Amino acid sequence: DWNAGNVIAEQIEAIRAQVGNARVISALSGGVDSAVSTALVHEAIGDQLTAVFVDHGLLRKGEREQVERDYVASTGVRLITVEAEDIFLGHLAGVTDPEEKRKIIGREFIRAFEKVQLDLVAEAKAEGEPIKFLVQGTLYPDVVESGGGSGTANIKSHHNVGGLPEDLDFELIEPLRALFKDEVRAIGRELGLPEAIVGRQPFPGPGLGIRIVGEVTRERLDILREADAIARAELTAAGLDDSIWQCPVVLLADVRSVGVQGDGRTYGHPIVLRPVSSEDAMTADWTRVPYDVLARISNKITNQVPDVNRVVLDVTSKPPGTIEWE
Ligand code: XMP
Repeated sequence: DWNAGNVIAEQIEAIRAQVGNARVISALSGGVDSAVSTALVHEAIGDQLTAVFVDHGLLRKGEREQVERDYVASTGVRLITVEAEDIFLGHLAGVTDPEEKRKIIGREFIRAFEKVQLDLVAEAKAEGEPIKFLVQGTLYPDVVESGGGSGTANIKSHHNVGGLPEDLDFELIEPLRALFKDEVRAIGRELGLPEAIVGRQPFPGPGLGIRIVGEVTRERLDILREADAIARAELTAAGLDDSIWQCPVVLLADVRSVGVQGDGRTYGHPIVLRPVSSEDAMTADWTRVPYDVLARISNKITNQVPDVNRVVLDVTSKPPGTIEWE
């Protein structure tokens, strides 16, 4: 008897009661939770809401367009995109340690968001309504994991990257707090969001930055983006989206191996496929993707992506492996 339409109607009322005439800001990551929570708040209060999307250059192929074009078209939300690729890549230059990468990406994300926030606050003051509220796509499992605390931006640090500054003085709007992921997806569909966003696999806040083992550079990001797009398209075409929790595609940028292509010897990088099945990402098993699908992905990647001459499959469960390589 759970019904997406009812939940939407209840939440719209609750959001209107909470917000009144104040202005609201929301950080879109391109992921399901922020997309649906933002759309719900927009249904409730329209242009009192401003959504912010930070393009840190670590996104997957087509993600920015999905948000700027498809998401905006289907919701009508007022969106500000921050161009921050140069800044992020500048700070990531020379960095190889995974935790160091996470710290830098998290810190720069907050800086980018704060800059937009200052502009909006100035604008809001001019119009007489302060920005008091921040939308957060917290789900029920997040609430449980972080100890059930309410009304603060203190989500566990893992999920806070691409999430938000703890020291900003906002009241939170968390319309998904009572919901599980599949319910959030149902609500997103009911609100008419694009399937490419609603059906999206989990994707880490630090994005492709933690899927390049080694230094993150623009060239390496371009290589990984192409390989990732091929793998995703083939898995989707094979109808495997429902049986795969997520499939990180990883570039081993500091590893080279010898290959042969055409008449020539190559000395390129391996791409790792990491398809996993899971309920909650706490534990996972490697997904038994059919060999013919793996073969298609491997052929396409090695034929189409420059500098990649080998595709390997990760057959490790979690534990002992994590889902991501970094
Ligand atoms: P691991 O690699 O720890 O990943 O098995 C578990 C889940 O968390 C995601 N993940 C992250 N998400 N920021 C995020 O927002 C991060 O720094 C981060 N690291 C891992 C990962 O994609 C998987 O779904």
